[in-house]
Amino acid sequence: MEPLDLTKLPVHLAVIMDGNGRWAQQRMLRRIVGHQRGAETVKMVVEQASLLGIKYLTLFAFSSENWSRPPMEVRALMTLLKKYIRQETVRMMRKNIRYNVIGNRSDLPDDVNETLEEAIRKTAGNTGMVLTLALSYGGRQELSMAAACMARDVVAGRLAPEAINVGLFETYLDTGGLPDPDFLIRTSGEMRISNFLLWQLAYTELYFTDINWPDFTINELHKALADYQSRERRFGMTSDQISRRGDLSNA
Ligand code: IPE
Ligand code: IPE
Ligand code: MG
Repeated sequence: MEPLDLTKLPVHLAVIMDGNGRWAQQRMLRRIVGHQRGAETVKMVVEQASLLGIKYLTLFAFSSENWSRPPMEVRALMTLLKKYIRQETVRMMRKNIRYNVIGNRSDLPDDVNETLEEAIRKTAGNTGMVLTLALSYGGRQELSMAAACMARDVVAGRLAPEAINVGLFETYLDTGGLPDPDFLIRTSGEMRISNFLLWQLAYTELYFTDINWPDFTINELHKALADYQSRERRFGMTSDQISRRGDLSNA
C-alpha cells in the first residue's frame, strides 16, 4: 500500500460514487445488485476515512437528475438507502460519526426522511467525522434556492444587497458550515461533475479513476490520497509563494 502522510490528508473528501450499474451489467446481474455491492464500498470508505482522521466525508448518493431513472431502480435505491442508514447508525455511534444530509429532502419518501431524521438526531452529539450524504442533490438547484432565499430576505428588509459577498452567499447553501472539499474522487471513468457541489468545488483537487465503485478498494483509496498529497495547491498564487508559505508554517 502507498505510504500516506497523515498530516497532509484532505480535511474534506468528497466522492462521486459512480459505476454501480455498469459493474452489475458486466456481470450479467441486475443494476440493483451493483448498488448493493456499492453499499459495501461505502462502508469501507466511511470506516477508512474516519480511521485516517478525515474530518468531513461527503458522498454523492442520489442526484436531482437520478429521479429520471426507471421508477423500479429509484424505489430500490430508496429502500437500500433506508436499510443502510438503519444498519449503520450503531456503527456511526461507535465511531463517533455525525450524519448530515444535503439536497432537497422534501423530494424523498416519508419513510426515508423519518429514518434520516432519526439517524441525524441520534448522531447529533458525535464529535468525530461528519458524514454528509448528498440526496436528491443538485448544485444548480442549491444555487438557485440560495438566490431565491436571499431575494426573499432582501424584500423582507432582512438583508441589504450590498451585504451579499462570497462569505454571505455560502451561508445560504446547504453546505453552510462545511469547509469546501479539498479532494474529489469520481469512480467509473466519467470525467464530469454531474451537477455536484458546483460552488464548493471551485478549488478542489479532482481525481478520476476507471474503477467502478463496487470494485473500489482500500488500496485504491490510499492510491488516490497519495496522489492528492503529491499536488501543489496554488489558489492563484505562484509556486514560489506557496513554498515560502510552507517554509514559514514549518518554522
Ligand atoms: C452510481 O452508479 C449510483 C447512483 C447514481 C445512484 P450508477 O447507477 O450511475 O452506475 P452506472 O453509471 O450506470 O454504471
Ligand atoms: C452522479 O452519477 C450521481 C451520483 C453518483 C449519485 P450519475 O451516474 O447520475 O451521473 P451521469 O448521469 O453519468 O452524469
Ligand atoms: Mg452513473
